[in-house]
Amino acid sequence: MVVPQIQPWIDSDDVESVRAAVESTFVTEHDRTRFFETRLRELTGARHAIAYANASCALFAVLRALGIGPGHEVIVPDLTFVATANAVILAGATPVFCDVEPETLMLSPRTATPHITPRTRAIIPVHLYGLAADVAALEPLARQHNLLIIEDAAQAVGVRFAGAHAGTRGSAGVISFYGNKTLTTGEGGAILTSDDSLAEAVYRLKNHGRMQKGVFVHEQVGFNFSFTEMQAALGLSQLDKLERVIADKRRIRERYARGLAGLANVRLQQPPPHVEPVFWFTNVFADDAAALAGALQARGIQSRRFFYPLHQQPCYREHLRQRPAAGSAFPNTTQAYASGLSLPSWCGLPDETIDAVCEAITDALDRTTDSTVPTHPYVRTAPRKSRGNQTPAAVACERPAGSQ
Ligand SMILES: Cc1ncc(COP(=O)(O)O)c(C=O)c1O
Repeated sequence: MVVPQIQPWIDSDDVESVRAAVESTFVTEHDRTRFFETRLRELTGARHAIAYANASCALFAVLRALGIGPGHEVIVPDLTFVATANAVILAGATPVFCDVEPETLMLSPRTATPHITPRTRAIIPVHLYGLAADVAALEPLARQHNLLIIEDAAQAVGVRFAGAHAGTRGSAGVISFYGNKTLTTGEGGAILTSDDSLAEAVYRLKNHGRMQKGVFVHEQVGFNFSFTEMQAALGLSQLDKLERVIADKRRIRERYARGLAGLANVRLQQPPPHVEPVFWFTNVFADDAAALAGALQARGIQSRRFFYPLHQQPCYREHLRQRPAAGSAFPNTTQAYASGLSLPSWCGLPDETIDAVCEAITDALDRTTDSTVPTHPYVRTAPRKSRGNQTPAAVACERPAGSQ
């Protein structure tokens, strides 16, 4: 048996919704897409939500529309999916990587400030793993240095920080509906903004430089980053179950919290204060993520390592403003990669399977308990407790799930 790390939750409502879109014969972007955008505005509180083919091209379009290009630098966290930095490079600007905070895995004023130069135009906080970066804390820094804030909220649908939906505080935010995301449209994304002229600019960019399809006088050069009605149909039915998705992700995390409580060499990532998380992935820190992933894989349990630090990515060698020696400037992303693992986290994951994953982790760590391997700084150093035949309920009493 293979336990996937992540898979979408597609049910008969989704199938019916997509079938209706196909049968309508309106397959390219049309009324369903407009309705999907309306629903996204209602969900996020953004004044505009513009559906895009995916979040990668949406990020690129935001940068272009904001006039970011050659000669400009954009601060990007060293721990993110490559799409964040690729968009900057494809817009003609230079990504400048900064370290992240060890627990939240996100950039902060502390980690971003040393990288600001007179060429810096923007900063892209990335809301990783269903948590949210503290954008409010970045605002004074952005004002002081005249920087734009562009939020990469690809992984943060439904996530709120101090009441605001992720992606709605900066000049623009981008969300993703890729197949493994909280909600999926297969491929897909959207730009959130409350800036009317930016909304118009990114709409033009996705529509060959014009506001209206079917008109063949184009005011500017653009591209085709359109959505489809099938994506919108799937997105609409997925939105209908967002609350259930959020509740199920919380159940999964709480079950892991109970199952792993008492283990000294592994611990769950903690959500930052003021965040209403959506536990898209349940993440743990272990001494050796690669070894733990291997042990789980041997039992057919898929897990996912954290992102490979961007400053080490072969594809960015020629783009690095920082010299290679600057590797030492990224202690937290380096550590996070070494110790971080995302556990199976898909909606519907049975409790017994979560218990089996916890058991597999316990066994894997038991094999290394008496080794002299130093405990990773990310990992709790409390003495290891014997779990004996404790039931999950007994373990839960040691550390209530809510305290994780
Ligand atoms: C942090 C981050 N940014 C951007 C993207 C790009 O999203 P998309 O796959 O919709 O292009 C992803 C996708 O996984 C992501 O995780």
